[in-house]
Amino acid sequence: MTETANAPAKAAFPDTRPAGCPFDPAAEYQELRETAPVSQVSCPVGVDAWLVTRYEDVRSVLADPRLSSRAASPSNHVNTEADLDAPAAPGSILHHDGPEHSRLRRLLTPEFTVKRIQAMRPYIADLVDQHIDKMLEGTEADLYHDFGLPIPSLVICELLGVPYADREMFQAASGVLLKVDITQEQRLAASGQVQGYMAQLVMAKMANPTDEDLLGRLIQRATAGGTPLTIEELVTLGISLLIAGHETTANMIALSAAALLQHPDRLAELRADASIAPAAVEEMLRYLSVVQFGVFRRVVEDLPIGEQVFKEGEFVIAALSSGNRQESVFGNPDEIDFGRNASAHLTFGYGAHQCLGQQLARVELQEVFARLYTRIPTLRLAIPFENIEFKHDALVYGVRSLPVTWDAQA
Ligand code: HEM
Repeated sequence: MTETANAPAKAAFPDTRPAGCPFDPAAEYQELRETAPVSQVSCPVGVDAWLVTRYEDVRSVLADPRLSSRAASPSNHVNTEADLDAPAAPGSILHHDGPEHSRLRRLLTPEFTVKRIQAMRPYIADLVDQHIDKMLEGTEADLYHDFGLPIPSLVICELLGVPYADREMFQAASGVLLKVDITQEQRLAASGQVQGYMAQLVMAKMANPTDEDLLGRLIQRATAGGTPLTIEELVTLGISLLIAGHETTANMIALSAAALLQHPDRLAELRADASIAPAAVEEMLRYLSVVQFGVFRRVVEDLPIGEQVFKEGEFVIAALSSGNRQESVFGNPDEIDFGRNASAHLTFGYGAHQCLGQQLARVELQEVFARLYTRIPTLRLAIPFENIEFKHDALVYGVRSLPVTWDAQA
């Protein structure tokens, strides 16, 4: 990447979570926001990028069509220089721009309307209760593997029409694909496996058309006139939804539990009045910013941002977690405050690619927040807090497991 004359010296990509503060974003972000809101950093895989840390700049970057989502990200899935210029896979909604992105997004939008997702609420609430009932048969559980992961996995399987019995394969594959710095070999093995699986499923649904699930409806919509989706596009879309639909929310469920158990006053507020669950969910989404490295873009046309000029071909990282902790937008940003309006947080991104599944994630989290802590009032960690392992090496931050316990209930 060419250096801009007035660019400050490049620093290493900040450690996303400072030692000893597993719920906070990089310690450097506050100073960067104040002194160098647009700075240059070297990414782990050896390319340089502009790091954008202020809330308003993050929004400008994500709303600007001169920045493309087409490029593979410089922190992940990139093993060779050629990977950086590789075209986006057909059907990969996250990595297309302009009319091609709009075409894919238009096909999916009807499936994710507020009305449609609200209709799933009773099913989701029931699922949460069933998992709590199961936990209450004993007095200990792993809140990630026994609760956080199965609930969104079951929901996305139900929505898409993917058999839940096949979860081990796709959960393992997405764990690999969302890791930073995986090898080319690991990436190809994991994506090959999940692609082969989804291709078979799509073909089976083509042979037996159904409108009972999202994949079935997508196939019908995709083949009914207009520009039909190819099998390859359907497979990639299906995989994107399957992975995005469970891993993010699963991490958010378990990580927010770990954080709330460390903040007993906030937990007491939530237990005392479950109707604050929606506000508490927004605040925890802001506070935790699980998409920990932010989102990546590539410049397709020169543009000024702050005092810098981004040049065609350069990489840009929009640090969502930094914007979410900006004092001038969220007063007292390092405090968890259920009374604030946190809904303008950046955790679901912003602009054309803003999270398509955000309503679904919200409903799942709201039902968890409203039920888990009231139904198990003595819920607590079963291991010392210091022993919790956090996912520092994953695009979506979370805990590897969360052993919890509670008093036996009559
Ligand atoms: C896009 C975060 C849950 C599906 C995104 C983006 C973010 C995000 C930051 C934008 C990426 C970018 O601009 O490059 C989250 C978080 C979640 C969550 C934090 C949970 C707490 C879900 C769920 C689904 C989903 C449940 C369901 C299917 C998608 C899709 C996109 C996306 C399809 C791509 C949209 C596009 O490119 O137009 N998500 N997500 N997400 N998300 Fe989510």
